[in-house]
Amino acid sequence: MANGSSGRGRFGQLGFIFAAVGSAIGLGNIWKFPYITYANDGGSFVLVYLLAIALIGLPIMMAELVIGRRTRQSPVGAFLKAAKNTVGGRAWGAVGALGVTGSFILLSYYALIAGWTVYYFGQCLSWSVRGVAVQDQALGESFGAFLANGPLQIGFHLLFMAVTVGVVALGVREGIERVTKLLMPVLGAILILLVVNSFWSPGFGEAMRFLFHIGPITADGLLEAVGHAFFTLSVGMGAMLTYGSYMTSRQSIPRSAVAISLLDTLIAIMACIIMFSIIFSVDAAERATTFGKSATILFTTLPRMFYEMPLGVVLAPMFYLLVGFAALTSTISLLETVASYLIDRRGFSRRKACLVTGGAIFAFGIPSALSLGASGALSAFAPFGERAEGFFSTMDYTVSNWILPLGGLLMALFFGWFLSSRESRAELAEGHGDVSRWFFIWRGVLLRFVCPIAILWIIWAVIGGRSFA
Ligand code: TRP
Repeated sequence: MANGSSGRGRFGQLGFIFAAVGSAIGLGNIWKFPYITYANDGGSFVLVYLLAIALIGLPIMMAELVIGRRTRQSPVGAFLKAAKNTVGGRAWGAVGALGVTGSFILLSYYALIAGWTVYYFGQCLSWSVRGVAVQDQALGESFGAFLANGPLQIGFHLLFMAVTVGVVALGVREGIERVTKLLMPVLGAILILLVVNSFWSPGFGEAMRFLFHIGPITADGLLEAVGHAFFTLSVGMGAMLTYGSYMTSRQSIPRSAVAISLLDTLIAIMACIIMFSIIFSVDAAERATTFGKSATILFTTLPRMFYEMPLGVVLAPMFYLLVGFAALTSTISLLETVASYLIDRRGFSRRKACLVTGGAIFAFGIPSALSLGASGALSAFAPFGERAEGFFSTMDYTVSNWILPLGGLLMALFFGWFLSSRESRAELAEGHGDVSRWFFIWRGVLLRFVCPIAILWIIWAVIGGRSFA
């Protein structure tokens, strides 16, 4: 079974790592993590996040890779096949279906935000070339106007989806592996450059203190840190499972999962160093008024700060290019998760599957694109009340607060309590060797108890009205 079905794509060993790291690293690392860390007062939040990555995200990532590679199927087929002889049987296919649905929804608005990075890349290029003085107020206004511009939102969303479809349609090796192998090193290089550049920034020392000081943390902060661990590692919805189904059996799953998690975390911390060095370079009073807890600093204040730095004219466009690349390698993995369902389960050709799913996801993203001001009704759409206002926020709330934790919970339960330990142990040993030293901790402690309890706590809190989208 392990090496079965010919005709499916297969990653090279390094290719797999690049693709999986590319999936993990995205807007979650560069846009979301810095701003939620800032809103949660740094230090302790970062520590909890690191613990959540190690104790919850990493074990579930390993589980996803195990089931993907064991069955050589995309999420739905993988659960159907793996659950054949377990209690629950075919009902477990629903976990895969939940993941495919979640990926569909997530991509519909993720590509939209990704489109903003392309727009800002263009903006910064033009600012750099024309040498205009970029000012806060004008930036805030132009960002607001950009959000409310329906055709522009739809246009950049379409552009990003089209590039994603193009890459995924080329296939696992020719498309995904080639593009991620090219983009990830470029991304790494740009990031290192920006981090080194921030060493000289007047805010660097304070940024480091903020990141690593230990202070009080709220219950909401705890929840947000755990929830973000899923999002940033791309686990809980079958994306890693899908990539695992293209992984060679010669490669070690535990070692790969550790490498992916470490790299993802490293990049998130680097993004914080870059952003906070800029943020802490302004004095406290200005910081309090400009930054608050805003999710939009990446597009409203950051450009101006870049242009106040030496080399800013080069660094600014480079930065948005970097965020765009990071987002692209993530949208690729989301589309692959959805498209591979049609390929494996419905017999679609890869090209047709990509066009159909890509088209549908683009269409489903249109209401999100119009809910940022362009359409009054969509902007006010709020079935969850104050927790999520507007169509876009409602979709994000549904995926981040419900589908991701629920998917992760069901996966942890499946591995911890239902799938025989013989099956998962055999697959883990494949390409790795002896796993007996830690296998019990992984399955018997983390997946069986730690992950479900932590996730149930999140779900309970979400029901209780806390939102961490
Ligand atoms: N991990 C990516 C980020 O941090 C987002 C992402 C890509 C994702 N694929 C996923 C999140 C699958 C959840 C599930 O930006």
